[in-house]
Amino acid sequence: MKSFKTFVIASALILAVSGCKVEKPADTDGHDLWFHNLEQVSDATPASYTTEAIAQNEIDRFWKGKAAVEIKVLDKQDDALGRDGYRLVFSSGKVSVEANTAIGTLYGVYGLLRLQQTDALPKGSKTITEVPAYEYRAFNHWDNLNRSVERGYAGKSLWNWDELPDKVSPVYQEYARANASVGINATAINNVNANAQILTPEYLQKVKVLADIFRPYGLKVFLSLNFAAPKHIGGLDTSDPLDPKVVQFWKDKTAEIYALIPDFGGYLVKANSEGQSGPQDYGRTHADGANMLADALAPYGGVVFWRAFVYDAQAEDRAMQASDEFVPLDGQFRDNVLVQVKNGPIDFQPREPISPLFGQAPKTNLMLEVQITQEYLGHSKHMVYLHPLWKECLDTDTYEFGKGSTVAAVTEGKYRDNKLSAISGVTNIGDDANWCGHQMAQINWYAYGRMAWNPDLSSDEIADEWLRQTFSSDPKFLKPVKDMLNRSREVNVSYEMPLGLHHIMASNAHFGPGPWETSYRKDWSPQFYHKAGPDGVGFDRTVATGSGATAQYNEPLASTYDNIETCPENLLLWFHHVPWDYKMKDGQTLWNELCHTYQKGIEAAEEYVRIWEKAEPYVDNQRYQEVRTKLIRQAKDAMWWRDAVILYFQTFSNMPIPDDCYPAQHTLEELQQVGVFRRPQMPQGGARPQGTPQMPRQPRPEIYDMLPDYTLPSMPEL
Ligand code: GCU
Repeated sequence: MKSFKTFVIASALILAVSGCKVEKPADTDGHDLWFHNLEQVSDATPASYTTEAIAQNEIDRFWKGKAAVEIKVLDKQDDALGRDGYRLVFSSGKVSVEANTAIGTLYGVYGLLRLQQTDALPKGSKTITEVPAYEYRAFNHWDNLNRSVERGYAGKSLWNWDELPDKVSPVYQEYARANASVGINATAINNVNANAQILTPEYLQKVKVLADIFRPYGLKVFLSLNFAAPKHIGGLDTSDPLDPKVVQFWKDKTAEIYALIPDFGGYLVKANSEGQSGPQDYGRTHADGANMLADALAPYGGVVFWRAFVYDAQAEDRAMQASDEFVPLDGQFRDNVLVQVKNGPIDFQPREPISPLFGQAPKTNLMLEVQITQEYLGHSKHMVYLHPLWKECLDTDTYEFGKGSTVAAVTEGKYRDNKLSAISGVTNIGDDANWCGHQMAQINWYAYGRMAWNPDLSSDEIADEWLRQTFSSDPKFLKPVKDMLNRSREVNVSYEMPLGLHHIMASNAHFGPGPWETSYRKDWSPQFYHKAGPDGVGFDRTVATGSGATAQYNEPLASTYDNIETCPENLLLWFHHVPWDYKMKDGQTLWNELCHTYQKGIEAAEEYVRIWEKAEPYVDNQRYQEVRTKLIRQAKDAMWWRDAVILYFQTFSNMPIPDDCYPAQHTLEELQQVGVFRRPQMPQGGARPQGTPQMPRQPRPEIYDMLPDYTLPSMPEL
């Protein structure tokens, strides 16, 4: 991977824009992330590879202030700061960075440099105290040992397993530094669909090298486990968590890992889900499996992240299954187990209600899992700032412990004696020069870290910070681009799956529309989720006539969602099957509302191109061009989505597309042929029929060429 200088060299090119002169920045491939505008003031190198030396070196190289910076690990512990918190004490001529630990001071140093870069340093004396909300602020890499990345859209895995442990890429340290700068302190480096080979002595030597590089940056390594490892690599004939041989296998394996990696974080487990093995293979429960691993880790202070992402093909409503399986186990998990719950009950859709499990397991350490990679939100082709999606979840009230028991409060452990807390994000990182595939997708890495540190930060604050550090603080750039980012999640919902629609994407790579598709498993079939017919559209999850999923929420959420009159319209079709001529709150029919919402989504995506073109003077040419090309593509994809979904639904509604919406540019038949060679229609029910191909989990390049030809009506020249 090409590395780039960490500071901007102003190019000689001076542009006159709107009457003012703007210096065109030098080209960059974006590899320097949000350190881009950090101007280097010295070439100092760290005295050693320790946290203390790194913290000092960051100040020596980048602190521009006149005030002297003193970095201080406190002699006397300050309980208010905990392990990772810090205090910045600004007084005349001096800034003191104080913490209980060296890593706390490093976070303080990055906090101080952030204030410098965002023009937010206090003018006079002031003390700023920062303490992270979650103890574990974790990354989940869905990286395979062959360097493919499941649902990864930014190149290959960062981890070059063939070269490790002998050859070490500089990118490993850059990665650790970037994570530390936003407070990420844990990383599960391999796919949850895990290959047990990672636990072999050969691979553990490689993992050790990564752990050694990450350690000074406070980043603990976790491993995703294959629950059948005792059989796969242990020579046992069972992986039953209650079998003494299996218990011993995991004790020994854990001891072996800690001998190599003394600060190893623990295990991340996907069990009995999507074909992965687990305790239920042996008639045991998720708690049996998790506790057995927790006991192996406990002597070393390790923890288990046990995923609640479970569903099976036979169930009537996939949205209910995590709760159905985990609520009865509440209170049975060991103290060092956290149950990792996706934000919504299905699977990282552009909009979902919260997973009801957040409000149903008071005696379990629950943690939130969000997806940073854009599996269902346009991959790295679309600009979507995800913090508003995550924040919507964190701020939603579960009402479990009365008003105010939001997902944030529950997962932070505010209502538990056991204060162990964590949050996970499925990364969007690969070996692309710009790390994330799309220059603008870097904001989601940044925002995830900032949110994990402080869930109260607003989307606007985080976008502001990121843009200033990564692009420009010029208000003529900042305001319009920030507004565009802030709107982008809602815009994506509008042009992909508005009003509570979900899981209607093409099922091959989860890119582009496929509302007409069926699958040999109903719970993977778009038709199962929208249930469009002559009588209307949407999944009835009410108690009286539907699956009853609304009853999994606490009051008043349960009755609010259950009643079509009170259900928020942005989740209407998630909870209700609604006639096409149903009157929406603004007086339109559902059909017209759908058409107009898609139309708004398209227009907003077209508008991005114009906003970005106005931002050109403030952005280096390389990143400008890259982003512009992608924004044009995004607007065309928006039209593709609209045409596909609306033309298909029209076969049931028999209602016209309103005159004030763009006419379709393709017929339904044409769109249904797109990529069909790779998308065999399989009969419903049972196992995959013989001879039918497995759905690919990594998009192949040709998927992105499936887009039918589109012109953007408001920009015919493009
Ligand atoms: C989704 C995704 C899979 C992934 C799974 C998970 O279903 O499409 O690729 O393995 O989530 O979270 O485990």
